[in-house]
Amino acid sequence: MAEKWTPNSWRTKPILQVPQYPDFNKVKVIENELANSPPLVFAGEARSLLRDLGRVADGQAFMLLGGDCAESFAEFSADNIRDTFRVLLQMAVVLTYGAGLPVVKVGRLAGQFAKPRSAPTEINAGVELPSYRGDMVNGIQFTEEARIPDPRRLTRVYNQSAATLNLLRAFAQGGYADLHKVHQWNLGFVADSPAVSRYQNLADRLSETLAFMEACGMTSKNSPQIRETSFYTAHEALLLNYEEALTRIDSTSDDLYATSAHLLWIGERTRQLEGAHVEYMRGIANPIGCKVGPKMEPQELIRLIDILNPKNTLGRLTLMVRMGAGIVEERLPALVRRVKEEGRNIVWISDPMHGNTIKSSTGYKTRPFDRILKEVKSFFQVHAAEGTHAGGVHFEMTGQDVTECTGGARSITDDDLSARYHTHCDPRLNASQSLELAFLLAEILKDDRSVAAKKVAAGI
Ligand code: PEP
Ligand code: CO
Repeated sequence: MAEKWTPNSWRTKPILQVPQYPDFNKVKVIENELANSPPLVFAGEARSLLRDLGRVADGQAFMLLGGDCAESFAEFSADNIRDTFRVLLQMAVVLTYGAGLPVVKVGRLAGQFAKPRSAPTEINAGVELPSYRGDMVNGIQFTEEARIPDPRRLTRVYNQSAATLNLLRAFAQGGYADLHKVHQWNLGFVADSPAVSRYQNLADRLSETLAFMEACGMTSKNSPQIRETSFYTAHEALLLNYEEALTRIDSTSDDLYATSAHLLWIGERTRQLEGAHVEYMRGIANPIGCKVGPKMEPQELIRLIDILNPKNTLGRLTLMVRMGAGIVEERLPALVRRVKEEGRNIVWISDPMHGNTIKSSTGYKTRPFDRILKEVKSFFQVHAAEGTHAGGVHFEMTGQDVTECTGGARSITDDDLSARYHTHCDPRLNASQSLELAFLLAEILKDDRSVAAKKVAAGI
């Protein structure tokens, strides 16, 4: 029998990555304030995502999860939110139209502010200071003062997340995401990108299809599927006091939901079976995720699944595989096979970002586009070989024209990285690299589906 769970039962478990606040009484005051603030998302929305992810687990849909590595206070603007949303819509259209699969869209947005760190301190020109842990904890400036954790940042995160969600909801349901606007999503893009002309081509075909459907009587007015889209939010649940304060009872089901986002995930550094993060996540009714790095063993994974999804609910658990190109081929098959043998329902997605971070010759943390693509391809190949569904992808990306990841069709080199390197944490794909990846992915998916269809036709 599992021990009794409560929104604060994590407090009795060992915990990692906790900020060292100078005054914990001040933290309490903020926690109380948050506990009395309205929820950011509703239980019904989290249940819709659970249902949508259930289709992914079942092989009927694909999940696209993307956004900033770390949101920041400095880069908070309507334009940034719109641009990231716009690229995600473009990618989803490419995947849906190119591969013929419904795409569940989830933004790494409206709450993704806290960062786990591998080292507690950082040394710069001989000076050692506490590491930057995301705007939710301390400041990025390399000064002693900025690096002191400040609990008032939790309130600012809550407010910025509320405003971001408000705009995302307006975009998703207020007409911006209408498929008739497919051409306009492309405005503001750097025109010399090959992915952009490919996108224009696809948008032309989509417009023709919409005109045909309109002639048959299906219009934006009478078909919400054309007029609006579902868009969900997700972030790493790192600061459990924040998550606890926003955990609420759903009056229709009496279940407890995290209301800071639709989906929360556990990071690679905090997924200890007996630890506080696993404890908190096992009790909330939302769909949840967990990162799976190269060290994960099949037996450990099954124990983790036992704790996080004891009822084997479809769509409840997304495993985000982040092993690195060249490693995923070796380490993933045994995990997928074991999970399949045990009949566990899992949404498998590839995070090809976090196992492929390197230091460039010019000193920047970067990720080569080719390695990202290689990891995604291998992830698909493993699932094809094991007869399981490669359910989706997770990208760190932005709608801006940054230079943080090398490669891509416009070939960013190590020397180019300094031009527009703006990330507050890990390097992100820029708008055209993201779109390019979506096209490459659509091709992989299409091949995958035609192989599956042939197998069905041949009765294999
Ligand atoms: C992240 O997603 O930004 C992250 C820190 O990932 P991981 O936990 O996989 O290292
Ligand atoms: Co990251």
